[in-house]
Amino acid sequence: MKKYLAVLLVAVLAVPAFAASDDPIGACIYKYDDTFMTNVRRAMIAEAEKTDQDLDVVDSQNRQPLQNDQVDTHISKGVKALIINPVDRTAAEPIMNKAKAEDLPIVFINREPYAEVMQAYDKIWYVGAKAEESGTQSGQIIVDYFKKNPKADRNGDGKIQYIMIRGEQGHQDAVLRTEYSTQAMRLGGFEIVELGSDTANWDKVQATDKMKGFISAVGIDNIEAVLANNDDMALGAIEALKAEGYNLGDPAKYIPVVGVDATAPALEAMSKGEMLGTVLNDADNQGYAAVRIAAVASEGKPVTEESIHYVITDGKYVWIPYRPVTAENYKEFMK
Ligand code: BGC
Ligand code: CA
Repeated sequence: MKKYLAVLLVAVLAVPAFAASDDPIGACIYKYDDTFMTNVRRAMIAEAEKTDQDLDVVDSQNRQPLQNDQVDTHISKGVKALIINPVDRTAAEPIMNKAKAEDLPIVFINREPYAEVMQAYDKIWYVGAKAEESGTQSGQIIVDYFKKNPKADRNGDGKIQYIMIRGEQGHQDAVLRTEYSTQAMRLGGFEIVELGSDTANWDKVQATDKMKGFISAVGIDNIEAVLANNDDMALGAIEALKAEGYNLGDPAKYIPVVGVDATAPALEAMSKGEMLGTVLNDADNQGYAAVRIAAVASEGKPVTEESIHYVITDGKYVWIPYRPVTAENYKEFMK
């Protein structure tokens, strides 16, 4: 008996302190039923496979209390790092505190914790994209279209009458895309008139409903552009336009619609001439970067541009650039 115990002790003591461990990285995605986050999740899985990491990822089903429990479960299973896409960005603080109590590296993605939370722990990172950029780029696509196509100003008053379909309330991408896309139209030299604006929670079906409501409230003849905070909602709005005989190929019955993400269905809609443009929200690089940070940090190594191969700002933020996607270049983004 004693002999076995001794062997066991030696085996335990022999584990080197900083070796890459076989423990998993624990991840939570706010909900699997989200087109963009599904792409990010696929990229995370691909990067984990490529680098031989065990990634344990779960669906938080759009419920913050469930996600909090999932974080506890990950921790009790002994994960070496966490990657969290919060359901509610204001819930990042208690989750950060759980990680901090265990000295576990934690990477937030897609829903940015407030700055105070980011400053309260030295093993916290954020991977995302600057929403301002996507707002500006989508507004610019509308500006370019109106400059090239004077008839897009259907009532000839020199102003752009538009509908805004917003993402989830409080999400930084919804707030900033709305603000910066309208600003880009103004800076582009247009007076703008908002005919309607509402949230459709990033969701295609909700966007169709909202757009139908706007069409009956203001009349389809008066709408000159639709800006949506993401592609799913842009596609939802297009469904409502198609139901009115619009965006089906007749140039006299076309309303330019822009989204954000450059998802496969949006690129497909662009190829059919149903959708004017979008902005690449680079799911692949966001997913890869998150897994690299988790892996490097869990080995106790410094997270730097050299170790993760992404530019890192203030030691904590990885910002993946957006890119405008138009009729000229959309094919490049089709996989
Ligand atoms: C994407 C949306 C997505 C949301 C989820 C945004 O960055 O553009 O498509 O629904 O993130 O948080
Ligand atoms: Ca007009």
